[in-house]
This record gives sequence, C-alpha cells and structure tokens, in this order.
Amino acid sequence: MSKIIINGGRKLKGEISVEGSKNAILPILAATLLNSGRSVIRNCPKLKDVEVTLRILMKLGCKVEVDKDTVMVDSSNITSTEIPVDLAAEMRSSIIFMGPMLARCGRVVISFPGGCEIGPRPIDLHLKGLRSMGANILDVQGGFIYCNADHLKGTEIHLSYPSVGATENIMLASVFAEGETYIHNAAKEPEITDLQNFLRAMGADVSGAGSGIICVKGTAQKLKDVEYTIMPDRIVAGTYMVAAAITGGEVTLNNVMPEHLSAVISALSEAGCTIKNDENHIYICGPDRNEAVDIIRTLPYPGFPTDMQAPFVSLLTVCRGTSIVVETVFENRYKHVDELMRMGANITLEGRIAVIKGVDKLNGAVVYARDLRGAAALAIAGLAAKGETVVLDIKHLDRGYENMEVKLAQLGALIRRQD
Ligand code: UD1
Repeated sequence: MSKIIINGGRKLKGEISVEGSKNAILPILAATLLNSGRSVIRNCPKLKDVEVTLRILMKLGCKVEVDKDTVMVDSSNITSTEIPVDLAAEMRSSIIFMGPMLARCGRVVISFPGGCEIGPRPIDLHLKGLRSMGANILDVQGGFIYCNADHLKGTEIHLSYPSVGATENIMLASVFAEGETYIHNAAKEPEITDLQNFLRAMGADVSGAGSGIICVKGTAQKLKDVEYTIMPDRIVAGTYMVAAAITGGEVTLNNVMPEHLSAVISALSEAGCTIKNDENHIYICGPDRNEAVDIIRTLPYPGFPTDMQAPFVSLLTVCRGTSIVVETVFENRYKHVDELMRMGANITLEGRIAVIKGVDKLNGAVVYARDLRGAAALAIAGLAAKGETVVLDIKHLDRGYENMEVKLAQLGALIRRQD
C-alpha cells in the first residue's frame, strides 16, 4: 500500500504552480466525443481520474495522444457505446459519458455508479433531466443502465438541487437536441463555465453558465476541431493555501484564479492569515497560530466548497478556540475526523455538524486515507504535527492532486513517498 511519510513542524516557504482543474477536465474530455474530430487540451493535470477517463475514451474508439500536459483526442470514429465496467467502477464521475454518448450515438450502456466513499451520491437528477429530453432509460438491470434516444428534444428542466454532474450531463446531451434546452437551478461552479467555454469553442450554442439558468440551442451542424486550455484547479489551490496557513508559512501560488476562491480566502482571513492576490497569483502568510472560525457551512458555489471541508477541518484542529463546520452537500463526508482524532484533535461529530476545539499541537500518527480530500487533509495535519505522520493508502490523493508530495517538498516540507 503506497504511503507518504511526513516529519511535521516545518514552515512552508516559496512558490509553486497549480495544475489544471480535475473537475473541469473530466467533463471536457467527455465533451470531446461531440466534435467527431480533434480536440487539443492544454494544462491537463496528471491524475489517476484523467488517466481512467482517457482509457474510457480509447475503449469507445477515440485516438488519444498525451504529450506532457497536452492531450489530443480524436473522436472521428466511435466503435463502442458501452462504458467498460471495470473503468466505470474506478471513477464515479464516469456517469458524465451518458450525455455526450446519447447526443453523439443515441445509445449508451453504463454500469450503475454504486455507493461511494463520501455518501450514496445518487444520479436521479441526471436521469430525470435526460428522460425529459426524450431518452429511454432502463435503469439498473443487473447493475447496468441502458439508455437510448433516437431523437433528443430541448425542454425546460428544473433541477431540485444544483447538481454539478447533472448540470454538465444535461448540457452535453442537449448540444444536438432539437430546439432549446433550459436548465433552471443549474450549478454555478466555475467548472461549468469552463465546460461552456469549451463547447462554445467547438461551435456549440451555450449560454448562461454561472447565472443559474443555462440555455443550450441545439444544432444540426457538426462541431469543429478545438484547442482549449483548462482552468486552474481551485480546490488544489485552496488545499495549498491551508497547508501554508497551518504551518505559519509564506507561500505564493502561480496559475490560480483568485476570484474562484473568495469563500476560502474569506475563511482563511478570518483565521488570521494575510492574503494578497493579483489576477493569477495568490500570496498567503499564516500567523504563528490561527484563530478559530465561528461557522463554516459547505454550500454550492459561490459558497464554501465541500471539497475544501476536509483540509479546512485539519487547520481548525489547531486553531485557538472552537469552530463549527456544517457539511450540507454530502452525507458521510467526515471520514478524516476519526483519523485526525488519532493525531490528538478534539472533534465532536453529530450528523453533519462537527464541533472542533482547537488543541495546542497534533501528534504524528499512522493514519488511513479513505477518500480524496480526506487524504489531503491528513497530509496537511501531518505538516503541522509533532513527529512523524504516515498517511496510508494515498492512491486517493493521486486521483486529484498532481505530485502533491513533490510540491510540498519544494516548499520545504519533510515529506517522502513510499510505493
Ligand atoms: C462534483 C465534483 C465534486 C464536488 C461536487 C460538489 C466532479 C467530478 N466532482 O461532484 O468534487 O464535491 O461536485 O461540489 O466535478 N445529488 C442527488 N442526485 C443527483 C445528483 C446529485 O441527490 O442526481 C446530490 C449528491 O448526492 C450530493 C449533492 O447532490 O449530495 C451534490 O452532488 P453533485 O453536485 O452532483 O456532485 P458531483 O457532480 O457528483
């Protein structure tokens, strides 16, 4: 089992660049199926989830070439409409292939994304939206979802919750639909705007991303070849900011979009950090000891991101005073809490509410990573803990952070990986 070993107590210092966004590139790679030609995508992060998505594209018949952080997908020939079970099982977000495959081929078979490490994560909103456009979906026959649609029709779709994945799936399905599709209560996350920008660059008619109402005017024309640069990863940036804060360090992040991080910047400022930014850089300096933050409630964008909850809880464990965190987006997203308590944190959990009483110091321990952001949270706790922390099962980290241990070492952390 791969692990990282951290000797805590070093203040992080220096500058690093943030990679392209995982949550932006996954739907954009799925969207390459729509253009029946070549898509060149730059600033592509080297992550396990990206690798799995590219393998799915190849199984569907696409040609894929990777050169450093540039990926080329040629989707001229689609030879299969079945998403391989083993690959779909590796990554829940493989459900994002439903929309573009229905739009391109009128058919897709995908295995039902089962329970996940951060809660049940249902897909009812995806299915409801696609059905209302005319897709026939025979769900869960032996764990498979069979979808076909000879003809998708634009319609008005009201999401009962602004699901990121459902918004993206419906956007992708509607590109060739007859007429106009309106998605009301659409997710407003910046990654949705990145997807809109990519679709527009291919010639699709999409507008409204970021506003809560997205309109897609279906086209009968072929889309064109495209070159596109993925937005920087705001969650990775936020994670390194918290790492700087917890060590009382001084770090500059390059290739970031500070406007995507307002809620995180505001919480870190409340904790006592000094933060400055221009268009593409953030400078953060942590105090010797951070102050507790009254209450953090995770919410859809532009609220505090659920993906930043785990790293932030690590910071709060050593703040002066008591903080409260309410996880409103996902059930069961507190698996890091037990591990942090093994390191000496004082946290009381009641359902979705965590009450965190700051302790003077965490102690190094052997801890288990159980999900992606939880793994990052444990690495961050290890940076501040006294002695040695071993984070086990860091395959989770590799799903969403490009060489995190290398970047932290560049900033002066004593950290190494053992595979
Ligand atoms: C995406 C992100 C993930 C982030 C999340 C919320 C990707 C690849 N992943 O996940 O990192 O944590 O947004 O910002 O972009 N729900 C339903 N029915 C549905 C769909 C969702 O009830 O059909 C619920 C989920 O169980 C969850 C909530 O809605 O409680 C939010 O889910 P959603 O916004 O869909 O997240 P994902 O797209 O899965």
